[in-house]
Amino acid sequence: MSQQVRGVVAPGRNEPVRVETIVVPDPGPGEAVVQVQACGVCHTDLHYKQGGINDDFPFLLGHEAAGIVESVGSGVTDVAPGDFVILNWRAVCGNCRACRRGRPWYCFDTHNARQRMTLTDGTELTPALGIGAFAEKTLVAAGQCTKVDPAVAPSVAGLLGCGVMAGIGAAVNTGAVTRGDTVAVIGCGGVGDAAIVGARLAGAATIIGVDIDDRKLETARSMGATHTVNSRSTDPVEAVRELTGGFGADVVIEAVGRPETYRQAFYARDLAGTVVLVGVPTPEMTLELPLLDVFGRGGSLKSSWYGDCLPSRDFPMLIDLHQQGRIDLGAFVTETIGLDDIEQAFARMHEGDVLRSVVTL
Ligand code: APR
Ligand code: ZN
Ligand code: ZN
Repeated sequence: MSQQVRGVVAPGRNEPVRVETIVVPDPGPGEAVVQVQACGVCHTDLHYKQGGINDDFPFLLGHEAAGIVESVGSGVTDVAPGDFVILNWRAVCGNCRACRRGRPWYCFDTHNARQRMTLTDGTELTPALGIGAFAEKTLVAAGQCTKVDPAVAPSVAGLLGCGVMAGIGAAVNTGAVTRGDTVAVIGCGGVGDAAIVGARLAGAATIIGVDIDDRKLETARSMGATHTVNSRSTDPVEAVRELTGGFGADVVIEAVGRPETYRQAFYARDLAGTVVLVGVPTPEMTLELPLLDVFGRGGSLKSSWYGDCLPSRDFPMLIDLHQQGRIDLGAFVTETIGLDDIEQAFARMHEGDVLRSVVTL
């Protein structure tokens, strides 16, 4: 029997989101229904609402979530009803060219539920990032459920489902930050701060937070930045060079997603260093760089998709570190809100007032 629950739907481009009754089918083969306990509000949810991802309206928003598995379909063995799980949007297939070459964190054929959730009139919903967790319950592929220790609050655990994992992974997985490295992070929002946490965890000696908002720089310091630079008043490239013995940082993480900040990242990097782009650009953006500088400065220019994470490996590991007190995931939760508060949360996100608003159910 399908169930009817409340969910947050983006009906059309730039239209305000609405809380609607949605229909959640029973899980089919390889699927699970999850009772959502918490779901963070991510930039990507706003991009969906604005039509910036695609035009498959109506969307069921929300994708940074934790909850309890309620039921599973046939053939599901990795999770069972009652398990506390973080939802992920990288349920690896094991079969694509990336998986077959032993690099499943790039999986090109990730799994989602096959059945669709709908409105009560039968209109099919497109779940954000194949999750759709601003809802009391959601239907996902079982592989999208990563079991973790239920002792961690859902509002905290869920953050690993997207932004915080993207940031930590940008530093640890993509940037391969290691002991003694100098690191600069441009853009100290939720993702950038998580990159700072990751750099600190990996043993970076110097961590420079760059932002245009002093409030963000203050938080960046509390997350582990050893130095901060306000790039509205100070040239960030010069400042990063000065703070790194005149050379530039070994790893520069761009967590804004704009050509001008990418250019800063490119030139704030030491010779043979690494630039990691984890901020997500929009389609009209272009970048022009002297090719001779691209060659002459060496090193690597990388993008970080979802922090190049492997959920089954990284979520339980980061939950462990959180429980040991070696990272503080709770510091990312600015406020908890209800399903009816998503529009206000988008506005606060736009104003830069929050690291994360988290819907709790
Ligand atoms: N220079 C430096 N910092 C900037 C600039 C700039 N020109 N423009 C904006 N910022 C800062 C903001 O002040 C803010 O602190 O970048 C930060 C962006 O943070 P959030 O808005 O909280 O976004 P976040 O969730 O961290 O995501 C960052 O990663 O996943 C992507 O789509 C996401 O592109 C976005 C990026
Ligand atoms: Zn694959
Ligand atoms: Zn997200």
